[in-house]
Amino acid sequence: MTAPWHVSVITLHPDRFPGILAASLVGKALESGLWRLETYDLRAFGRGRHNSVDDTPAGGGPGMVLRADVLADAVDAATLPDDPRPRLCLSARGRPLTQARVHKLAEGPGVLLVCGRFEGIDQRVIDTRGLDEVSIGDFVLAGGEVAAMALMEACVRLLPGVMGADASGDEESFEAGLLEYPHYTRPQDFEGQTIPDVLTSGDHAAVARWRRDEAEKLTRERRPDLWAAQEELRDSKGDK
Ligand code: ADE
Repeated sequence: MTAPWHVSVITLHPDRFPGILAASLVGKALESGLWRLETYDLRAFGRGRHNSVDDTPAGGGPGMVLRADVLADAVDAATLPDDPRPRLCLSARGRPLTQARVHKLAEGPGVLLVCGRFEGIDQRVIDTRGLDEVSIGDFVLAGGEVAAMALMEACVRLLPGVMGADASGDEESFEAGLLEYPHYTRPQDFEGQTIPDVLTSGDHAAVARWRRDEAEKLTRERRPDLWAAQEELRDSKGDK
């Protein structure tokens, strides 16, 4: 058996993991050893009588900053000899996480994740420990834990054997550069709204065409950025 996908999480809330990731197929995969999770309690690396992990920002300003020495010790403790795993720090100012990046991470040996709290973390630990800052969206969370769980879930569901056919991928949002088409199931009549006829026509080619059209329409409306990238791709391939 290949080694499990290995996640190490540095956090002030180790007892909150795996949290929701213990549920469903992702949780079963954890139980069956397809992936492995360990947490490192940042407080255990704190300094002084109160195990302080943060201090006021140099230069003044609001909030508190995670100390470089405390976080560096935690990162070093979580790092294996010759650890090949990328070290990511969840942060609103990071590069946006994409499905393409999720695929790359899932294909690798695992990840080391740093969950920030407070205003930020000392830049020197980002620089010396090679932390790659990653954001899960253009909004600000109170800390990196929920973002870390989102990243883990996105990766783990792609691991071979975790989701079976459900993660087949090609038809999902982002996989083809488009948002997903709308879904319907029983009842045929829901509060006077019926299922589009084409979906019950048995004409597989027509269904595929309808789904493609709907996916394109949604993408144009909701994500002009994705749609522009699609058009560019199409133009570069020379088909219109
Ligand atoms: N921490 C706070 N906000 C975040 C975000 N948007 N993504 C990742 N980590 C965060």
